[in-house]
Amino acid sequence: MAEKWVLMVTAQTPTNIAVIKYWGKRDETLILPINDSISVTLDPAHLCTTTTVAVSPAFDQDRMWLNGKEMSLSGVRYQNCLKEIRARACDVEDEKKGIKITKKDWENLHVHIASYNNFPTAAGLASSAAGFACLVFALGKLMNVKEDNSQLSAIARQGSGSACRSLFGGFVKWIMGKEEDGSDSLAVQLVDEKHWDELVIIIAVVSSRQKETSSTSGMRDTVETSPLIQHRAKEVVPKRVVQMEEAIKNRDFPSFAHLSCADSNQFHAVCLDTTPPIFYMNDTSHRIISCVEKWNRSEGTPQVAYTFDAGPNAVMIARNRKAAALLVQRLLFYFPPNSDTDLSSYVIGDKSILGDAGIKDLNDVEALPPPPEIKDNIPTKNKGDVSYFICTRPGRGPVVLSDETQALLNPETGLPK
Ligand code: DP6
Repeated sequence: MAEKWVLMVTAQTPTNIAVIKYWGKRDETLILPINDSISVTLDPAHLCTTTTVAVSPAFDQDRMWLNGKEMSLSGVRYQNCLKEIRARACDVEDEKKGIKITKKDWENLHVHIASYNNFPTAAGLASSAAGFACLVFALGKLMNVKEDNSQLSAIARQGSGSACRSLFGGFVKWIMGKEEDGSDSLAVQLVDEKHWDELVIIIAVVSSRQKETSSTSGMRDTVETSPLIQHRAKEVVPKRVVQMEEAIKNRDFPSFAHLSCADSNQFHAVCLDTTPPIFYMNDTSHRIISCVEKWNRSEGTPQVAYTFDAGPNAVMIARNRKAAALLVQRLLFYFPPNSDTDLSSYVIGDKSILGDAGIKDLNDVEALPPPPEIKDNIPTKNKGDVSYFICTRPGRGPVVLSDETQALLNPETGLPK
């Protein structure tokens, strides 16, 4: 082999949000859950990770950069993902560049990895899910790994549990599996992103002063101390998973909304049942729940589902564009931007929803009437409680980006551009 070459692959992978939550492990190292979970993949146009992986005989160690900053790969989760994917590497030949790598060569070759999130990593939007999924997917392509996305998901799972669900678009189920080695704990696609494409997803990134307990340590404490979690995992979730699959298959929004909200609320209930109790939602989260609940009740049938992960951000799923426009009016009524914030940075992603809601500028926000369902009891407006909103929709799974200009590593040096 010549010593000069660099071979690279760039991939883009979406993030996902669970509508039936994963919370609790039966094996901490292999990351095996105590129940199945179901998620919706979010459109990568608005929330995704892009990762470039490169290999070269000139590299003397594995290295990684996240959003331009070098970070350590020594953690056991990274090491497990790298080990598992290397073990499946196959022969690679690039005739144009005159490169030939055999299965055996991979044991001695090092990789460079550069990853970039198109959303703030600190916003608490499941960046590790997209990140590990993208790492495993991109390395799989670089190393010509023959395993399908479900089998790759079982590797991404060892980086972060929820990452396994980011290997597919649409709606995805993580099957908990039975095997001790975790080989059957993997993700499968239930339906693709076109199956239920009327849905609109609006995320409220809620301002928070406190650093939340990480999912990893939070769920460990719950499994060790909560009596409710066993009931949830054994009795509640198995039935809900069956009902949720049915609701998704039939595009049955009322059942979908009921199950999503109930499961999010039960997840936060087992957090509260943990010793010491874990509080992920804050006052703003609670106000958003009450706004949605009141509206849904007044309509007689749900217009919007909500779900909250290990933090105060609300993910709201509207049944269609009309409901999304009415939701945006309500959200901006309750949570208007500060007067020094412009609307275009307060509502990001698919801004066309603003047009549907008849909102062009801050004057239109000021002029919003109180929602009819709260006529007698108008609440105070809460400026500054929401940092911004992201409008998005169900999206596709991982893809390889063949356009070399999108690579994050320099094709000559293999270092960040
Ligand atoms: C509340 O996947 O972040 O978002 O497996 O320890 O890395 P680890 O945890 P992580 O937990 C996600 C928890 C959740 C629910 C969900 O995504 O299903």
